[in-house]
Amino acid sequence: MMDKLLDGHQIEQIVEDLARRIAADQANGQPLMVVGLLKGCLPFMADLCRSLSGFGVRVEMEYLRVKSYLGRRSSGTVQIFELPEVDLVDREILLVDDILDTGLTLREVARFFRERGAGRVRTCVLLSKEGRDAAVVDYLGTTIPDVFVVGYGMDDAEQYRELPYIGIVNQDKPDASCA
Ligand code: IMP
Ligand code: MG
Repeated sequence: MMDKLLDGHQIEQIVEDLARRIAADQANGQPLMVVGLLKGCLPFMADLCRSLSGFGVRVEMEYLRVKSYLGRRSSGTVQIFELPEVDLVDREILLVDDILDTGLTLREVARFFRERGAGRVRTCVLLSKEGRDAAVVDYLGTTIPDVFVVGYGMDDAEQYRELPYIGIVNQDKPDASCA
């Protein structure tokens, strides 16, 4: 079985703390367009938006489908597949992803929104691996060791996204993409 890194209660505390910080910066009463990066954002984004509403922030939820990973490694390029069919001009955007590794995904997606005339574009991730350049992240939940993790939306070859906790994949298990 998998080693647990963060249990459901710990995740809940991290998400609530993120929502509190985001809400404090959203004092202008503007609705926030929360844009989740599929598929990994899903449980995190749902919990974050519910928590934001508890802090009085009005949100709209949009999704992008992006792919940058090949197996357990960044491929070095980011493909963006689906876009919000809404006007982005001057909108307040919060990009939400599950975990930061190289930072390439968030950097590219943030640039994409700015080029399309969005207003303030901020980024939020639940986790960052230690030693990474988190300059691209405005709201970081917590830092974890440099291991491959799954659960709470995150996958290893599409498995384990449904786990209510975050676990560490046994690195001895072969990377499915290299089979
Ligand atoms: P980056 O573009 O290198 O920052 O990679 C970020 C993306 O890689 C995230 O959106 C995840 O989908 C994926 N990723 C990075 N590390 C992990 C991990 O440990 N487990 C699962 N997915 C990961
Ligand atoms: Mg992802």
